[in-house]
Amino acid sequence: AASVLALTAGAAAAQEAGEECSDGEIVVKFSHVTNADRHPKGIAASLLAERVNDEMDGTMCVQVFPNSTLYNDDQVLEAMLQGDVQLAAPSLSKFETFTKQFRLFDLPFMFKNIDAVDAFQNSEAGAEMKDSMQRRGLQGLEFWHNGMKQFSANVPLETPEDAAGLKFRVQPSDVLVAQMEALDASPQPMAFSEVYGALQTGVVDGQENTWSNIYGQKFFEVQDGVTETNHGVLDYLVVASVDWLDSLDQDVRDQFTTILSEVTQTRNSESAAVNQEAKQAIIDAGGTVRTLSPEQRQQWVDAMKPVWSEFESDVGAENIEAAQDINA
Ligand code: LMR
Repeated sequence: AASVLALTAGAAAAQEAGEECSDGEIVVKFSHVTNADRHPKGIAASLLAERVNDEMDGTMCVQVFPNSTLYNDDQVLEAMLQGDVQLAAPSLSKFETFTKQFRLFDLPFMFKNIDAVDAFQNSEAGAEMKDSMQRRGLQGLEFWHNGMKQFSANVPLETPEDAAGLKFRVQPSDVLVAQMEALDASPQPMAFSEVYGALQTGVVDGQENTWSNIYGQKFFEVQDGVTETNHGVLDYLVVASVDWLDSLDQDVRDQFTTILSEVTQTRNSESAAVNQEAKQAIIDAGGTVRTLSPEQRQQWVDAMKPVWSEFESDVGAENIEAAQDINA
């Protein structure tokens, strides 16, 4: 926790100051949508900038734009292909127009926890997924963890029937749409930056997200409570354009990707702790957190898991099997 907090202060200061790049440095704009200092992705992005700007001073300079200040997730990949931004880390649910492979990660109850997700991503099949969009001009560099998703709504959610008839914000993913339909709820795809307002004004009744996002965006303040379902995973792919990577000298590219990989290892191992801190912060702030009995949780599994068969051909039966072997 101490290291999380120490970094937080430094990262926040860097953010406020705004990173000035010098003439001749390769400027790397990194656009993302979460906060910079109490979030698995925000902290990782800040640490990456800190290290590159220190160790590659004079050569490369990373500027982080958090909180959707530069682009929303639904614009950032197009902006990257235009060369307007060089790095992003959208959630795996936001690559639908580029590949269907990541649908595996959206399937409800596919992975039992973030360690299982990590093991799959580090398997050969997982690693190959990073190359699945090369034809479309994008290169996946590293998977970054956030964590497991929880449901919240403006009414208590204990059984799947409680969600029926409610409108839920989802990320723009066909699997997540199908998941909510399996609950007889109404899915509403929407950009992350719009969710708080939509919950507050009743445009939607509920949403699903990780503790760090529910805390970071204050969703819990405009919901009845959060139910600890751990029903799915929200993870990221750090991505760059093939053109931009190819434009880098080999030694520059190697130094950059080495730093990125070290940052990934350091921060991925802390993502669960950051989410647990966020969960506790919600409780400390007076938010309601509900837990499910094993029987109640099984009802959610029974209601949502049938969605797998709809997407089996997109994600590959062998990948589903590999994920289940890891869980076992
Ligand atoms: C969401 O849209 O809910 C998340 O993908 C936001 C994020 O980047 O964590």
